[in-house]
Amino acid sequence: MQQLRKIIFPVAGLGSRFLPATKATPKEMLPIVDKPLIQYAVEEAIEAGFKDLIFITGKSKRAITDHFDSTLERFSNVDDKKAKLLDEMNQIVPKGVSCIYIRQGEPLGLGHAILQAKPVVGNEPFAVSLADDLIDSEPGVLKQLVEQFNEQQSSIIAVQKVDQSESKKYGMIDSNNLDSDLVKLSNIIEKPDPEFAPSDLGVVGRYIFTNSLMSFLEKTTFGAGHEIQLTDGIKLMLKQESIYAFLFSGKRYDCGSKLGYLMANIDYGLKNKEFGDELRNYIKDLV
Ligand code: UTP
Repeated sequence: MQQLRKIIFPVAGLGSRFLPATKATPKEMLPIVDKPLIQYAVEEAIEAGFKDLIFITGKSKRAITDHFDSTLERFSNVDDKKAKLLDEMNQIVPKGVSCIYIRQGEPLGLGHAILQAKPVVGNEPFAVSLADDLIDSEPGVLKQLVEQFNEQQSSIIAVQKVDQSESKKYGMIDSNNLDSDLVKLSNIIEKPDPEFAPSDLGVVGRYIFTNSLMSFLEKTTFGAGHEIQLTDGIKLMLKQESIYAFLFSGKRYDCGSKLGYLMANIDYGLKNKEFGDELRNYIKDLV
């Protein structure tokens, strides 16, 4: 059985839905309460046992690279609370875990971004995590997917139930048997109109792939928006290999959209030990 060690974080997208905030700041650095989205994704990956974190970065994404460096100066006169915080920040990436940064010279699509990691992935299976999909779950969704992968030894895609009217925002999957949490894919359709959605299961940004996805992506031609689409690579793969969809337990926020981002901040704010109750009272008064 091949050990899962590698995870790809494609963070080279333009983030056009979140302009002007994303003009010079990566959307993955937007904070939910006090922590950037990419840090939530990295912590989830570390919890799931990943050791090589491969970031596919692009223009205006320098802040992501800086964030995982442990270069914060220790100030001589900080109090204990601040010193503890500084220590915590220097330990986001623990010993034994490596950050690897690869540039995607042009934003030519998610499939193209994943392909940039091929030389580092070698012949191993790998995960892909899209940090703008924030998923609140216990255990983390990647840990849930790794368990499924270890049992199936096949590619696994995280899915959630979506309102049929929302199908245009998702890759929607089809299966001959939709009755369990783990279903075998028979098809995947990128952003269909509601009348063409094959099910109510939409793909969210967590995947584990066998290594062969790389060769299918290499065979994938430029599709919608002159991009190499991950969905097209998955479609090719489906002709040769079984792929499963896993209905994970947890709540997902689309933080690439302004509304999803605000919802995440409210929910995480309400859970905050320091000021959650105050925020709750404030919202109650407001509405
Ligand atoms: P999105 O479809 O969310 O695109 O990409 P985007 O550019 O980030 O955001 P919008 O739609 O313009 O607002 C899905 C994921 O794929 C990455 C993005 O960073 C995001 O995590 N991606 C996309 C790349 O790394 N490179 C690309 O060329 C395209």
